[in-house]
Amino acid sequence: MDHDAIKRPRPDRPIHDLHARRWSPYAFDDRPVAEDDLRSLFEAARWTASSYNEQPWAYIVATKADPEAFAKMLACLVEANQAWAGAAPVLTIGCVRKTFRKDGKPNAAAEHDLGAASFALTLEAVSRGLYVHQMIGILPDKVRETFGVPDDVAPLTALAIGHLGDPSTLPENLRTRDVTPKPRRPLAEFVFGDAWGHASPLIG
Ligand SMILES: Cc1cc2nc3c(=O)[nH]c(=O)nc-3n(C[C@H](O)[C@H](O)[C@H](O)COP(=O)(O)O)c2cc1C
Repeated sequence: MDHDAIKRPRPDRPIHDLHARRWSPYAFDDRPVAEDDLRSLFEAARWTASSYNEQPWAYIVATKADPEAFAKMLACLVEANQAWAGAAPVLTIGCVRKTFRKDGKPNAAAEHDLGAASFALTLEAVSRGLYVHQMIGILPDKVRETFGVPDDVAPLTALAIGHLGDPSTLPENLRTRDVTPKPRRPLAEFVFGDAWGHASPLIG
C-alpha cells in the first residue's frame, strides 16, 4: 500500500471523496503547480462565505519560478516548518483584515473566515490532485516587514501547496508522520444534544 493510501481518512460514515482524499503531507514533489490551477485555488477561496461578506482574507503567494521571492517567504516560517515546506513548489501566507472596511470596527469572524477560505482553496486543490499543508508556525512580524503588510492586517497562516512527494526524502521524525494515519475524535465527543458533553441522539 502506498503512503497516500495509508494516510487517507477512514471515515465511519459516507463523506464526499474530496474530504476523504485530503491530508497534510510533509513530503512534496518539486513538480511545479500549473498557474491555471493556482488561479483556480484562489478563485475557490474568493467564493467562500464570510461574515457580512467582508472577505477579510488576503494571500501573499510565492512560487519557485521566482526563487528570490520563494526564499523570502520560506524565511517567514518557523524553522521546524522551513525544514520541510521548502520542498513544496508554492508557498502562500494567509492574512486577515482585523477590522471592517466600512466602519473600522473589529471583525470577530475574520480568522474564522480566513480558515474557511483556506479550506475552500484546499478542497479545490484536492480536486486537482494537489495537496495543501497549512502552518500556524510563521513569523508574523517578519511577514509584515518583508512584504509591507499594513497594521490592520494580521499574517496568520502559511500554506504549502504542491504534488505529493516521496517520504523517504524526509528526515526520520517527519517521515514517520507522513506514513502514520492521523486519528480523529469520534462524533460523540463533539456533537452534543441536550447538554454540553452529552452526545446528540442524532449521531446514534
Ligand atoms: C490552521 C492550521 C495550522 C497548522 N499549523 C501547522 C504547523 O505550523 N506545522 C505543521 O507541521 N503542521 C501544521 N498543521 C497541520 C496539522 O497538524 C494537520 O492538519 C493535523 O495534524 C491533521 O492532519 P491532516 O491535515 O493530515 O488530516 C496546521 C493545520 C492547520 C489547519
